[in-house]
Amino acid sequence: MTTWNANLYDQKHDFVSKFGGSLVDLLAPQKNERILDVGCGTGDLAHEIATHGAHIQGIDASHDMIIAAQQKYPDITFHTMDATALHITNQFEAVFSNAALHWMKQPDAVIKNIYSALKQGGRFVAEMGGHGNIASIVWALQKSMEDFKLPYIEEDFPWYFPTLEEYQSKLEAAGFTVEMISLYERPTPLQGEDGLRNWLVMFSNNLLQHLSDTEKEQIYSKCEQLLKPMFYQDHQWVADYCRLRFVAIKNNIHTTVISRPFHK
Ligand code: BEZ
Repeated sequence: MTTWNANLYDQKHDFVSKFGGSLVDLLAPQKNERILDVGCGTGDLAHEIATHGAHIQGIDASHDMIIAAQQKYPDITFHTMDATALHITNQFEAVFSNAALHWMKQPDAVIKNIYSALKQGGRFVAEMGGHGNIASIVWALQKSMEDFKLPYIEEDFPWYFPTLEEYQSKLEAAGFTVEMISLYERPTPLQGEDGLRNWLVMFSNNLLQHLSDTEKEQIYSKCEQLLKPMFYQDHQWVADYCRLRFVAIKNNIHTTVISRPFHK
């Protein structure tokens, strides 16, 4: 199970919700719409959506994230819930998700539940890590473990980074009409000289859970050494993020599919 440090997340990784900002524009929340934020984290984008007058609710599998979200935004309703356990029907005009679906390794169940939660004509607007996301970081983790003769446990890989075609066909199989879908590179700056190390501490828990603290430190340093020539410039780490972004409609009659690079 993934555990999260909500404080570290807010202090060092607020870029996650900052980059998500333009996804809210794509969602275009309307006054009084009922919207569900799946994988809401510490609630910043749910709050932004609420400022448009929409009735937003947030769910997240991490109880720590939900506690932090509820403290920051007491007027919004948040629930600790895994999206595979979301069993509601015809409740929302829109479902929104930023940087969360790639943590959900049962995509068919998640997509089915989101489809069910939407009203007819409702929209599913989301962005997640797609095929190729953080490929260099994953490579560096594998290579470091190999160099230190530490076991790399494939089943502990916590992410799902699908291709555009794969996720589109899953959406369509669930009954969605995919209005827009795009896979694009979005190099992402990591705050400060320790940006990569902080990222690893925050996000590589699952992959390194069988290691001692000393071994983890060795891995962090080795990853920094391996990635520095390519991903550290002018005192700034940049991670090789690739985003899959889409708008899918529940039973909408329009069937136009635009699958080309997305430009901000
Ligand atoms: C992402 O947003 O792409 C991501 C964040 C943390 C770990 C893996 C991927």
